[in-house]
Amino acid sequence: MLEKIDALLVEVQNFQSSAKDEIEQFRIRFNGKKGVLNDFYEFLKQVPNEQKKDAGQKINTLKQAVNGKLEELKTSSESSLILEKEDLTRPAFPLELGSRHPINLVKNKIIDIFKSIGFAVADGPEIEDDWHNFTALNLPEYHPARDMQDTFFIEQNPDVLLRTHTSSVQIRYMENNEPPMRILAPGRVFRNEAVSSRSHCIFHQIEGLYIDENVSFADLKQTIQFFTTELFGKSKIRMRPSYFPFTEPSAEVDVYWGLNSETDYRITKGTGWLEIMGCGMVDPAVLKNVNIDSDRFSGYAFGMGIERIVMLLYQMSDIRMFFENDIRMLEQFKTL
Ligand code: DAH
Repeated sequence: MLEKIDALLVEVQNFQSSAKDEIEQFRIRFNGKKGVLNDFYEFLKQVPNEQKKDAGQKINTLKQAVNGKLEELKTSSESSLILEKEDLTRPAFPLELGSRHPINLVKNKIIDIFKSIGFAVADGPEIEDDWHNFTALNLPEYHPARDMQDTFFIEQNPDVLLRTHTSSVQIRYMENNEPPMRILAPGRVFRNEAVSSRSHCIFHQIEGLYIDENVSFADLKQTIQFFTTELFGKSKIRMRPSYFPFTEPSAEVDVYWGLNSETDYRITKGTGWLEIMGCGMVDPAVLKNVNIDSDRFSGYAFGMGIERIVMLLYQMSDIRMFFENDIRMLEQFKTL
């Protein structure tokens, strides 16, 4: 009986098929209830004890060969099934494209507008020291204006903190470059404030700085007017006197949004005017802090929050949406 095994092993090894019914017949012939292997197990019961070990091993070799072959046939018949079903000439599935975050969409728009009139993009760290975030900007320790910009401290005495505005980049840039300079500094800023639908402890600003000989307030006004016309299609602006320690004089800029719809009434509180940025002529004390000759050079600076502009442009009502990264919100910006 056992002498049949060698021939059976050859038969198993040589068997090839991808037809389901042929494979099933093969399985039944070897592994079925009345199959070859069960015959051998029956036979094994009668084998004298001293020969049982050798016989068992031989039968086991056959069993392993059968199971190995069945496994091999299974995978090859699966892949041939795929080949039958799939049309390999069909074009590939399109790649899913992501979308830009609305903050970046608007940030890039603003950068493009200022780039077209000669501004370059500058960058600075989000973790700042006291000098660049406050003191050099004419906000010395104990200055009351610091109260409006409480932040998160990483170390104290000397202070290392999360920057409260992008104005710190003004200082870093002026320290390392010579006038004339014309830069835009976009970035993330932080304030120790309660989070609500209108304010957040993290938000984004864009800072502008222009230093040269004979820069005037009229230059500032015209640049801002160009900007509002490009971004909103609105050229009517007004500048209200304001206070910032690093500019003198300082102003707040309002755009005339109009009162054409109910939304206009709501977002402008019935006035038609919308505040969009702070600005002013760089204070000579700031120029002195960065060793720029304030008798020869003057300049203007401005700073605006990006979130509020995004909310305005896309009629979004809750600032927290920007940081939740809900796909349902982000997907709406795919085509922009
Ligand atoms: N840094 C100011 C803030 O965060 C905004 C600002 C106002 C920036 C006037 C300026 C400026 O450059 O000239 O509230």
